[in-house]
Amino acid sequence: MEKVLRVRGGRPLRGRIMVRGAKNFVPKAMVAALLGQGPSQLTNVPAIRDVEVVSGLLNLHGVSVDYDVQSGILRMDPTDVELAHVADIDAHAGSSRIPILFCGPLLHRLGEAFIPDLGGCSIGGRPIDFHLQILREFGATVDKAPSGIHLHARNLRGAVIELPYPSVGATEQTLLTAVRAEGITELRGAAIEPEISDLINVLQKMGAIISVDTDRTIRVEGVDKLVGFTHHALPDRIEAASWASAALATKGDIFVEGANQPDMITFLNVFRKVGGAFEVLPDGIRFYHPGGELKSIALETNVHPGFMTDWQQPLVVALTQAQGLSIVHETVYENRFGFTKALRQMGANIQVYRECLGSLTCRFGQRNFFHSAAISGPTPLHATEMEIPDLRGGFSYLIAALAAEGTSTVHGIGMISRGYEAFIDKLHALDAEVELR
Ligand code: EPU
Repeated sequence: MEKVLRVRGGRPLRGRIMVRGAKNFVPKAMVAALLGQGPSQLTNVPAIRDVEVVSGLLNLHGVSVDYDVQSGILRMDPTDVELAHVADIDAHAGSSRIPILFCGPLLHRLGEAFIPDLGGCSIGGRPIDFHLQILREFGATVDKAPSGIHLHARNLRGAVIELPYPSVGATEQTLLTAVRAEGITELRGAAIEPEISDLINVLQKMGAIISVDTDRTIRVEGVDKLVGFTHHALPDRIEAASWASAALATKGDIFVEGANQPDMITFLNVFRKVGGAFEVLPDGIRFYHPGGELKSIALETNVHPGFMTDWQQPLVVALTQAQGLSIVHETVYENRFGFTKALRQMGANIQVYRECLGSLTCRFGQRNFFHSAAISGPTPLHATEMEIPDLRGGFSYLIAALAAEGTSTVHGIGMISRGYEAFIDKLHALDAEVELR
C-alpha cells in the first residue's frame, strides 16, 4: 500500500537543496539516443519516476540503459533497437506521454512503430492530433486500432509544417523526426522553450543541422547518419520555481542550487512583483520572503517566453497569502484549476471562472472550461486530508500543507516522485516536519 505523508505545517522552510536535470527535457534526450549509431551519455539526470519509465521503455525497445543515481550519469546503447509489444509499452508507460515521441526515431530505425493510444489526464484532454498529423506529413501511414496506433514508413521525407499552437511535444516530435528525414523540414509556429533549445543542442551534437529563427520557425536539414552524444542536462526550472513558491508561501528562505536565471527570467519578474526576494549566485538562486505583505497580481500563463503553466499551480498557493485580489488566466491547459478545490477546503478564497480574465486570446474562452481564477487574500490555511490529483497540483497541495497550521495527511504522493527528485529528503533538509507512514 502506498505510504501517506503527514505534514505539520506553519513553519518556514529554510535551507539549501539542489535541482538536477529538467523532467521535461531528460526523457526527450533519452528518446534522441535511439537515433544515434553509437552509445550516448547524459549527465545531471535526476532520480525521478519519469526517468525510470523512459529507461524501461528504452529497454523494451532493445536499448541498454545504465543509470547511476549518485553521479546522475545515464548511459544508453541503441545498437540493438527492436520493436516492443504494445501491451508491454502500455503496461509500462502508465500515464507518461513519452511513447508518442518514440515514433519518429523508431520509424527511421525499423520502418514501423506501435504505441498505445494516449488518454487525457486531470489537467486536460491532452490530445495527440498534432503529433499524428506531423508524422503523416513526413510520409508515415497512421492506423488507429483499439489496441493502439500502428505507424509505417519506408522513407520519411522533410515537410513544411505549420503548428496550430506552439506545442512543446509537437515541436519535439518534428525535431526527432526531421533530423533523419530526407531533405529540408520547415516548422512554423514552433515552441521555443529552453528544454527544446537543449534538445536541439543534443541533436546538433549528434550531427543534425537545425536553425531557429526569431519568428518561431525552425529549419532542419535531414542527414543520413547521427552519432551518440554526451550532454549535461539543463536544470529543472519548474522544480526550482516550485521551491521558490514554497519559500514564499511558508515565509521561508530556500537556496536552490542549480537554478538558472536565464531560464527563469519571467518567473523571477513575477516573484518580485508578488513581493518575494531573490539573490542570483554563481551556483544557484536564493528565494526568500523578505517580510511584510505579499502583493496581489494579474497573471496569464503562456508558452515561452511567457509565464509557464507549470509555474502557475505552486504560485497560486503563495497568492492565497497575498494582500488583495489576484487574477490568474490559464491559457495553456483547459483544466488546470481543479487543485483549487482542496485549497478552498483549507480556507483559501478562490473562485474559478469560464471567462477569459485577461487580455490574451485564449482557446478556452467560449468552451465552458473553468480556466480563470480569482484569489482573494490573505487567508490563513488550515490542515486537511488530501489526495494528490496530478504532478504540479500535488506539489501545490504539499506547499499548502506546509503553510497551513496543523497536521495534514497527504495521500498519493507517488505522483509527486514523477517529477520531483527525493522531495521528502529535501523537505527534511529544509527543516520541514514531515513523516512518511
Ligand atoms: N495540444 C493539442 N494537440 C496535440 C498536442 C498538444 O491540442 O497534439 C494542446 C494541449 O492540449 C495543450 C497545448 O497544446 O492545451 C500545449 O501542449 P504541449 O504539447 O505544449 O504540452 P506537452 O508537450 O504535452 C509539455 C510538458 C508539460 C508542460 C507543457 C507546456 C512534458 C513531458 N510535458 O507537455 O509538463 O505543461 O509541455 O509547457 O514535457 C508537467 O511537467 O507537469 C507538465 C504537464
